[in-house]
Amino acid sequence: MSKFYLTTSIYYVNAKPHVGHCYESTVADALARYHRLKGDEVYFLTGTDEHGQKVAKAAAEAGVSTQEFVDSVVKPSIDLWKTISISYDDFIRTTQERHIKVVQAVFTKLHEKGELFEAEYKGWYCASCEAFWPESQLEDGNCPDCKRPVEQITETNWFFRMSKYRDWLAGYIKEHKDFIRPESRKNEILSFLEQPLQDLCISRPKNRLEWGVEIPFAKDHVSYVWFDALINYISALGYAGDDAKFKKYWPADVQIVGKDIIRFHTVFWPIILHTLGIEPPKTVFAHGHWLDAKGRKMSKSVGNVVDPVEMISKYGPDPLRYFLLSEIPYGNDGLFSEAALVSRLNTDLANDIGNLLNRTLTMIEKYYGGKVPAPANTQDPGDAELKQMAAGLAAKMGAAMADLDFPRALAAIWELINKANKYIEVQAPWSLDKQGKKDRLSDVMYNLAEVLRITAIAVSPFIPASAQKMWEQSGMTEPLSKMRVTDIEKWGLVAPGTQVKKGAALFPRIDTKAK
Ligand code: ME8
Ligand code: MG
Repeated sequence: MSKFYLTTSIYYVNAKPHVGHCYESTVADALARYHRLKGDEVYFLTGTDEHGQKVAKAAAEAGVSTQEFVDSVVKPSIDLWKTISISYDDFIRTTQERHIKVVQAVFTKLHEKGELFEAEYKGWYCASCEAFWPESQLEDGNCPDCKRPVEQITETNWFFRMSKYRDWLAGYIKEHKDFIRPESRKNEILSFLEQPLQDLCISRPKNRLEWGVEIPFAKDHVSYVWFDALINYISALGYAGDDAKFKKYWPADVQIVGKDIIRFHTVFWPIILHTLGIEPPKTVFAHGHWLDAKGRKMSKSVGNVVDPVEMISKYGPDPLRYFLLSEIPYGNDGLFSEAALVSRLNTDLANDIGNLLNRTLTMIEKYYGGKVPAPANTQDPGDAELKQMAAGLAAKMGAAMADLDFPRALAAIWELINKANKYIEVQAPWSLDKQGKKDRLSDVMYNLAEVLRITAIAVSPFIPASAQKMWEQSGMTEPLSKMRVTDIEKWGLVAPGTQVKKGAALFPRIDTKAK
């Protein structure tokens, strides 16, 4: 059994999560659940990034204290993660004491090691992105990222001696080919590292921004929000304190982040870790962005967000998860379209998997009073083909999941689902029944019951709530959470006599004409 430490980025709490955040949480959740299915000892961390100017500003605009404001945003986020079955093991908030004390310990360590220095800072600052930009990177005097105006700032700050680690980092990236994925992001970072690296300003004077972690040796300053935020990945494990979890789980196996924050995670972060004498994460795997119809990144600050709560209330949590996971290859951008979501719901979910469950259970009820028949072991090439496809599924899923290729993993499962639906047409249990071909009928129905069992396990990382319903309706009594990849590979685990319990349709069709 191997450990698998997986993180999402931690979301700003200046507004409630949108579909982009939902995507990040969903891909991480699917990966966490898949690794549990493999038998790995998974530790899945997510959380919220609660300090910084952006959050302080949003609180001021709302006219409440910053703490009240962040609490009021965290609550609906946690509710949302519950609604869409995000199975995190820990949820870190950067305003928690357990986090703050680790950030302060890191400051002290780096200070003692001589990695920090004080200097006058002069530069262009984008309050919205919490980022400083060199003049050369401004676009028409605006932030190159969010295109908003930047302000010039001069103040005394603390700096992290990051520049001297450029060569180390470039070498590290080249030697560890899985450190930055996908390849395009790795190339982006390597080309960024061809330029000299600046030292990183890691403090903010309290007279400009109070909402942050106080720096232990410079109490008139707080930590730069990004410095504070990155530390969450180790503070959650108890680094620099009771560190049994840190010893067990670090280095992280996969860190999921959006492509907009890849530089923080593959330049600043590994260098901070390196100076602390800590190994970098094994993989930082960047995803793309969900765009609006005009092709702009969906973002709270642009105000073009799709509200996941609304999508869920219309279509349910699993259809949203399924859409996000299947619609775009991980790493690419995608256009969010409600019509495309509905179309996937009606075809892949209602027609394919929903019908397979419904038809199979209806027939088991009709021909066998709801009890799965014992197989009679007749020989038929159709049976052999179906079994063969089922036997190959786990390997296909495994290969796809190693690349975080969710659409490919799902396609492999749907290949089996569609094969089983075809099998029903070809074998035509209704005529076997009419013709009194009892042995063939029992084999066909047993095989279909097996496909339901295998399918429910296979889809459980992706659409967990529906997988659970499918599992229960198929009459399975062992907990689904106890199932492993090996249970997908094996044929013949459904016990003859299993009592099925047909229930409500897994995915009711959405009537597109009525809208
Ligand atoms: O950057 N599509 O927080 P954040 C897909 N607090 N993903 C999207 C997206 C979209 N349209 N919009 C945002 C932060 N995201 C920091 C992280 S980690 C130590 C600190 C993703 O709330 C984005 O790419 O702005 C990022 O990975 C995550 O949501 C949080 O974004
Ligand atoms: Mg952002």
